[in-house]
Amino acid sequence: MAIKIMPLTPVIGAEVTGVDLSDPKPGDVEAVRKALTDRQVLFFRDQDVLAPEAQVAFAAAFGPLHTHPAAPQMAGHPEIFVIHAHRESRVANGNGWHTDVSCDVEPPMATLLQLHVLPPTGGDTLFSSMFAAFESLSPVMQAFLASLTATHASEHVYRGRYADRGVDDSNRTYPSAVHPVVRTHPWSGRQALYVNPSFTTRINELTTDESQALLDYLYRHQQRPEFQVRFRWTPNAVAFWDNRCTQHFALWDYWPEERKGHRVTIQGERPYHDPDSVPRHAAHPITKLARRL
Ligand code: SIN
Repeated sequence: MAIKIMPLTPVIGAEVTGVDLSDPKPGDVEAVRKALTDRQVLFFRDQDVLAPEAQVAFAAAFGPLHTHPAAPQMAGHPEIFVIHAHRESRVANGNGWHTDVSCDVEPPMATLLQLHVLPPTGGDTLFSSMFAAFESLSPVMQAFLASLTATHASEHVYRGRYADRGVDDSNRTYPSAVHPVVRTHPWSGRQALYVNPSFTTRINELTTDESQALLDYLYRHQQRPEFQVRFRWTPNAVAFWDNRCTQHFALWDYWPEERKGHRVTIQGERPYHDPDSVPRHAAHPITKLARRL
């Protein structure tokens, strides 16, 4: 069966059919890479439960895998992070806008998540395009943001977070990194806004007040619905997102129901901003429209 890419909104997201992630055919990985470059997050329904080895193998076709700095590792499969929320949970992973582990000096470039257990309703994941968020800003604002760097910290996110899963982190230190506020995507040359409310703590070149005011504005802007796609999971569906140009929010609106799956992340490069990068993708008209709204 030929691989088919069906866009879900004008700017972000596509459903992909015709590929079995447990047994990709020659050309599938390249086709998925191309679709991810364009659509930023891909959804695969009708998959069988992926064995940990198969999920790891598919992710590893895109590059070496990333190790999470805080989450417990699955016994026998250290690359797998078990996503699990249930009646006894005190926190649920991803329940707020973020880019995965942006506190790392080399944050993960992409994440592959399969969910096996779903609540009867709720538990959707929202994704927002940081290409669209950047491209819809005025040229003056774009140039200003491109001159800035931001600190991404993680102690406030991770300290004690996995205590209920047996993680004692009293002797652990957590990563923090400085990244450009606008990052260039290495595959397409497009520029993406790269600050997020979970990890970004300040804009380094501004005063504390200025930094907070600008971050508040950017967070509000990034969350505009026209930059988003919302995924309603079905059993064993897989989402594959590019952390270099998206943020996501896993809604925890289903307590006390259970939601469970396996996540694998792929190592990324150190974020950079290339002012001379000429995007090979033209901005979608919706982002130009958004400038006027
Ligand atoms: C995450 O933030 O990695 C979790 C996403 C999800 O559970 O939908």
